[in-house]
Amino acid sequence: MSNKIALKININNEEIKLNVEPRTLLVDILRNNLNLTGTHIGCDTSQCGSCMVLLENECVKSCSLLAVQCDNKSIKTIESIGNENNLSNVQKAFKNNHGLQCGFCTPGFIMSAIECKKNNLSSEDEVRDFLEGNFCRCTGYQNIVKSITSFLKMP
Ligand code: FES
Ligand code: FES
Repeated sequence: MSNKIALKININNEEIKLNVEPRTLLVDILRNNLNLTGTHIGCDTSQCGSCMVLLENECVKSCSLLAVQCDNKSIKTIESIGNENNLSNVQKAFKNNHGLQCGFCTPGFIMSAIECKKNNLSSEDEVRDFLEGNFCRCTGYQNIVKSITSFLKMP
């Protein structure tokens, strides 16, 4: 008998039905089942934030969440934020302020930036505090913070 569980999750505004084992992590269905590989895995200790997505419009680390916890909920991944032909404001802010180096951590920082804006953060100090759950191993924090504070000033 299969021990899989049937889930229905709205991912990037599309209703997705999946059968998953109870132990399956959200990040694994995004990357392996749905090919949404913009969500990265950068650690195995839930520290780096490269795997961040929006669950019901709140930032979560998708490596620390079981897929079954997302049943009947909505998820937004980096793929829904814009694309190279139609950059969103947050992406423009990162581009204009050189907010990325290797880019591996960038999807997670973009998701955190969106949450900073939702929470009406405005100062550099507030942004730095908020980013404690995101690592950039290139240590490009200066321009990441500059990108996010610039995004916060955009309409
Ligand atoms: Fe999720 Fe690092 S992969 S916090
Ligand atoms: Fe390289 Fe962040 S830009 S890890």
